[in-house]
Amino acid sequence: MSSLSVSNSHSKSNEVAVSVQHLGLTYTTAIDRRPTLKARVKSLGRGTKQTRTVHALNDVNLDIAYGQVLGVIGTNGAGKSSLMRVIAGILPPTKGRVEVFGSVSTLLALGVGFNPAMSGRANVHLGGLAAGMSRKEIEYHFDEIAEFAELGDAIDAPMRTYSSGMYARLAFSVAATVQPDILIVDEALSTGDAAFKEKSFNKIKELRSEDRALILVSHAMATLKEICNDVAWLHKGALVQRGNPSVVVDAYQEFLHLGKSAVIDEDL
Ligand SMILES: Nc1ncnc2c1ncn2[C@@H]1O[C@H](COP(=O)(O)OP(=O)(O)OP(=O)(O)O)[C@@H](O)[C@H]1O
Ligand SMILES: [Mg+2]
Repeated sequence: MSSLSVSNSHSKSNEVAVSVQHLGLTYTTAIDRRPTLKARVKSLGRGTKQTRTVHALNDVNLDIAYGQVLGVIGTNGAGKSSLMRVIAGILPPTKGRVEVFGSVSTLLALGVGFNPAMSGRANVHLGGLAAGMSRKEIEYHFDEIAEFAELGDAIDAPMRTYSSGMYARLAFSVAATVQPDILIVDEALSTGDAAFKEKSFNKIKELRSEDRALILVSHAMATLKEICNDVAWLHKGALVQRGNPSVVVDAYQEFLHLGKSAVIDEDL
C-alpha cells in the first residue's frame, strides 16, 4: 500500500500499529580508558579490551494503536531515542521483539535515512524514497516540502552545514508531506524556533487521524499535554507509567521536582 493513499475502505482506529514485547536493548561499546601501568602489564599480550555496557531498555512492553498520539517522556538517557530506534528498525533488539503492523514504508522516523554529506534537495529525495514515494511523487511534492521547511537557498547546501533547527525543519517537512501511517518524531519539535515550532505543532494536529499512529518524544510537557491522547514515561530503560497525558506528565513533573524515586517506587 502506498503511504500516500488517502482513501481507506475502513477505519483502522484501535487496531494495533506497533507492538513492543519484553524489549531489551544493550549497547556494548569499546572504550578507550587509559590503562594503569599495572593493568597494562597484567594484560600484556592478551589484548584485553575494555568495554562499557549500557542496558538502555529493560523489558519494555508497549502497544500503540492506530488513532493514538503517544507522547514519550523521561529524563535524559532514559532510553526514549533507543526505543524509537528499535521501533524504526534501525537497531535490532537485544531481547524481546517489536512488531509493526502495516507495510514497512508506512513507518517513518524523522530524519532517519538522511545523508549529511548530501544537499537538502537530495535528502528530500532520499527521505521520500525511504517512505515509499515514487520519484514522480517526490518531484510533485518537492516545492511543497521546500516551502514548508523555509530553508531558502540552503536547500542546495550539504546538510552537514545545517543548524540542528534547519535539519529538523527539513525532516519534519518531509514527514508532514509524506503523511506516513506511523510517524515517529524524536525531539524535532523542540529544536525549531518559535515560528517553526508553532507551524509543526499545527501540522501534527492536522496529522492526527484514526488511521494514523503518532509517537512524539519530547521534553515539552505542555505541548504533549495538549497534543497527545496517551503518554508513556520511561525511566532508566523501563516503562514506569502510561496513560492519561495529564496524569502521567504531572507524576513525571512531580518526580523531577522531588528529585527522588518516591513516585517511581510507587508505580513500579
Ligand atoms: N549509540 C550508543 N552507544 C552506547 N550507548 C548509547 C548509545 N545511544 C544511547 N546510549 C546510552 O543509552 C542510554 C539511553 O539513551 P537514549 O539516547 O535512548 O536516551 P533518551 O531518553 O533519548 O535521552 P535524551 O532525553 O537525552 O534524548 C543512555 O545511557 C545512553 O548513554
Ligand atoms: Mg533522545
